[in-house]
Amino acid sequence: MTSNPGVTLSDLNARVLAACADLARLTEVPGTTTRPYLCPSTRDVHAFLFGWAARLGLSVRVDAVGNLRARREGPAPDAPTLYVGSHIDTVPNAGAFDGVLGVLLAFALAEAVQERPLPFALELVAFSEEEGVRYGVPFIGSRALTGTADDLLGLTDAEGQTVADAIMAFGLNPDHLPDARVHGQSLGFLEFHIEQGPVLQAAGAALGVVSAIVGQNRVLLDFTGQASHAGTTPMAHRKDALAAAARFVVAAEELARSTPGLVATVGIMHARPGAINIVPGEVHCTLDLRHPDDAVRLEKLHGLLEGAQHFAAERGVTLTVSPMMGEDATPMDAGLRDLLHRAAGAEGAAHPELVSGAGHDAMILATVMPAAMLFIRSPNALSHHPDEMVNSDDVEAALRVGVRFLDVLAQEVGA
Ligand code: GLV
Ligand code: MN
Ligand code: MN
Repeated sequence: MTSNPGVTLSDLNARVLAACADLARLTEVPGTTTRPYLCPSTRDVHAFLFGWAARLGLSVRVDAVGNLRARREGPAPDAPTLYVGSHIDTVPNAGAFDGVLGVLLAFALAEAVQERPLPFALELVAFSEEEGVRYGVPFIGSRALTGTADDLLGLTDAEGQTVADAIMAFGLNPDHLPDARVHGQSLGFLEFHIEQGPVLQAAGAALGVVSAIVGQNRVLLDFTGQASHAGTTPMAHRKDALAAAARFVVAAEELARSTPGLVATVGIMHARPGAINIVPGEVHCTLDLRHPDDAVRLEKLHGLLEGAQHFAAERGVTLTVSPMMGEDATPMDAGLRDLLHRAAGAEGAAHPELVSGAGHDAMILATVMPAAMLFIRSPNALSHHPDEMVNSDDVEAALRVGVRFLDVLAQEVGA
């Protein structure tokens, strides 16, 4: 079965944007886009992608962690593979483009070159998990391709369900994890993604080539004091867990404001027991810390956690710190970046380089193959928010550059 042979890049762009809007309605929370790892609406996204892949005559499978993988074989069984993709999970109340746009552009790209011979195989990947919302740890999807997901299977979500439970509830088998690994020769991984920040908009550029992805740490902090009566417990007698945690939040903000390149976020804070007339006895909160320079990030993390211990101790509160993940800054592959620059130049598109402050599947794939990213301008610099947006012309430009990238790569591989 083939797709429409006369399809133009402009048709494909329109289809990608319409699909972003349609897939944004596949959600666990009506009226929002909320699609955590392996939630039921993931099946509907898969069904859409299965349909597109079938029209292109691609072979499709869903691997053991729920990544959908659509494959166009190469000219020979030992031909190398180019992987193209992004993720289909979302943060709560997300926009319509983070992750999904990159997946749909991968499918559009495959359709655009459907009639052309390529000296390599093409594998389109819709990663099932990148955000780290359900289990606190991101990249479950891409880690399966690099063979580093096994130690994530025992993580539990807020309901106490493990990753392995979630996989089985979705009808998949965690024992099949080894089959999810990439095998054979890999040419590289290409990910299209919205920038999610202001850099390209300020530069007046539709597209940008990612030079590196910043390193990050995610940490859980549990402050334990003593819940007690708000009226009868004198200030000097209190063990107020929330007061200690609040000092920590402000210290993190002040440190990040005064350290160039550092961003610090406390995105979750639960205080218990949570009544207006009870001194808070327990606080659970998170820290997300990022910087392009690993040495700076680790030094600042150490200082912040020392400060948190101090804020706790001065109130008779104890603090338990649980590291959830640490990922070093990851440069993108020089060779693939050069191909993206050449492709963008040939299309007459500006192609500045920029650092990604967001984490991406490309940083995991980069541990086993060359990886590169093409960013698409975020006109309102907003992401992880329903008002996330893109310009239609920018998405079409990304598609054009993607097609040109495949041409240049095909020449290099064929040469
Ligand atoms: C993913 O969006 C992240 O960088 O947190
Ligand atoms: Mn993303
Ligand atoms: Mn995201």
